[in-house]
Amino acid sequence: MSQISLLPEDAVPSYQPLKPFYMWAGGKSRLLGRYSEVWPDLSRFDSYVEPFFGGGAVFGWLVAQPLAPQLASLGDVNAELVGLLEALRDHPDDFLREVRTLVSEYLLLDSKGGRKDWYYDQRKAYWRNPTPSHLYVLMRLGFNGIWQTCKESNGLFGTPAGLLNHSSAEAVYDEA
Ligand SMILES: C[S@@+](CC[C@H](N)C(=O)[O-])C[C@H]1O[C@@H](n2cnc3c(N)ncnc32)[C@H](O)[C@@H]1O
Repeated sequence: MSQISLLPEDAVPSYQPLKPFYMWAGGKSRLLGRYSEVWPDLSRFDSYVEPFFGGGAVFGWLVAQPLAPQLASLGDVNAELVGLLEALRDHPDDFLREVRTLVSEYLLLDSKGGRKDWYYDQRKAYWRNPTPSHLYVLMRLGFNGIWQTCKESNGLFGTPAGLLNHSSAEAVYDEA
């Protein structure tokens, strides 16, 4: 399992939970309100290990806690997801630039049919050359935020198009 660390040693907890930046089936967002009752005393720990990152709802909650551990090792069996997290950690500016370019291209198309064709072309392009920015945009535009593979995707993300009715970049993804 690949592991990554997202919290630098001098990171200051934000006290604002980070929202998962994509939808993830089985995410724990809705359970977070109950975690304060069951979580151990955080001051006893200096690191957090999350081998089942998924959408990262628990991690996003944890980093906002005043006594959050300074260091986190995050992993997931899904290598495409880990690649996405690594891109965010190691090349956030490149990642964001590529996402902005793809989303602008998408928003320029105003017909549902044009957007659908674009989505499926981009999905094919991703299968030929899987990049984290491509994956992220497909995840944001794919059907209902679910993760599917299909025959042609060869094990890679292959979810069909979602509603494709966004009117702005903010409606597709949140840069914050
Ligand atoms: C429901 S998500 C976890 C939710 C998440 N921890 C949260 O904070 O919302 C489960 C994740 O575990 C991953 N997973 C399943 N089996 C695994 C394994 N054997 N090793 C590592 N990750 C695994 C899946 O890829 C999926 O992303």
